[in-house]
Amino acid sequence: MTVRASAPGKAILFGEHAVVYGKPAIAVAVDKRASVTIREGNNDHIQVKIPELNVYGVINTETGVVSQLNSEGEVDQKPGTTDVGIMKFIKSALSQTDLGSSPDHGLDITVDLEIPIGAGLGSSAAITIATLAAAARYNGQELSLENLAQMGHQVELEVQGAASPLDTTVSTLGGFLYFTHEKGAQKIKPALEMPLVVGYTSHPGNTGFLVSEVRKLCQAHPTIIKPILDIMETVTNQARESITRGDEKQVGELMNINQGLLDSLGVNTAELSRLIYHARRAGATGSKLTGAGGGGSIIAYCPGKTGEVLEELESIENAFQVGISSKGVTW
Ligand code: MEV
Repeated sequence: MTVRASAPGKAILFGEHAVVYGKPAIAVAVDKRASVTIREGNNDHIQVKIPELNVYGVINTETGVVSQLNSEGEVDQKPGTTDVGIMKFIKSALSQTDLGSSPDHGLDITVDLEIPIGAGLGSSAAITIATLAAAARYNGQELSLENLAQMGHQVELEVQGAASPLDTTVSTLGGFLYFTHEKGAQKIKPALEMPLVVGYTSHPGNTGFLVSEVRKLCQAHPTIIKPILDIMETVTNQARESITRGDEKQVGELMNINQGLLDSLGVNTAELSRLIYHARRAGATGSKLTGAGGGGSIIAYCPGKTGEVLEELESIENAFQVGISSKGVTW
């Protein structure tokens, strides 16, 4: 039997980090996806291949240990941390559906990726949701979208520590979403075009680490950081209003303000700033880091200037145009 599922990556336009403290965020699913294929394996192992990353790994179902294989197919004793990090999401997702703990035969799992890893574009959430959906289908388990998003969030908590359900919700539902812990995801109907360009640095960000650094800062300076999180909430709510009213200029200004607030939380880097200012110089109406920061990506909102911003960012780092995808998980 062979099953396949896929899920989109995401870009956060407003409210990252603040969302971990119950504040709202605005995010879109992007037209870049992770696809997971599960088929019966030839031996007892759970083998995982991620060809785009040159990752070949094995999950030991008895010990739960995840190992990477070298080019000779032997267990590599010193695997790269990013690669094993991804394997941990897959392992945890499989055990959520019982497939990881006691399959009665081996599994051959292939992950095809269009989303760059560690770029703040929700690659781990997309891999998690696609793995959960494929594993549930393989097991004959019926899962609602709500169940899937909840299980995806459990996987992120287990692997990464503190996390909000934002990434896994966007990856499950797709579309243009306003998210709060209290009310979950609400669709936004934009009254404007959203031409977006992503620029990504060569340094991946580590979401778990950055979330814990922000928590430490908040504990050290609660009377300063809490009001900053409150202002982020106001920015996100005003942005929702500007997007639905079709006010391009205000959307851009609010992105720039959000960037300043993220910088004050300590998650910006010199490399990200460079991309952000180059994007603005090339004509972006607004630009900011997207996702956890500390590396990863920026997002630029560029009505009428997509070509110019893309060209400018490509001249210094990696960049691509992203479209918003209304398609969430499919299987
Ligand atoms: C990461 O994509 C977004 C953060 O807000 C963390 C989270 O919401 O889990 C930084």
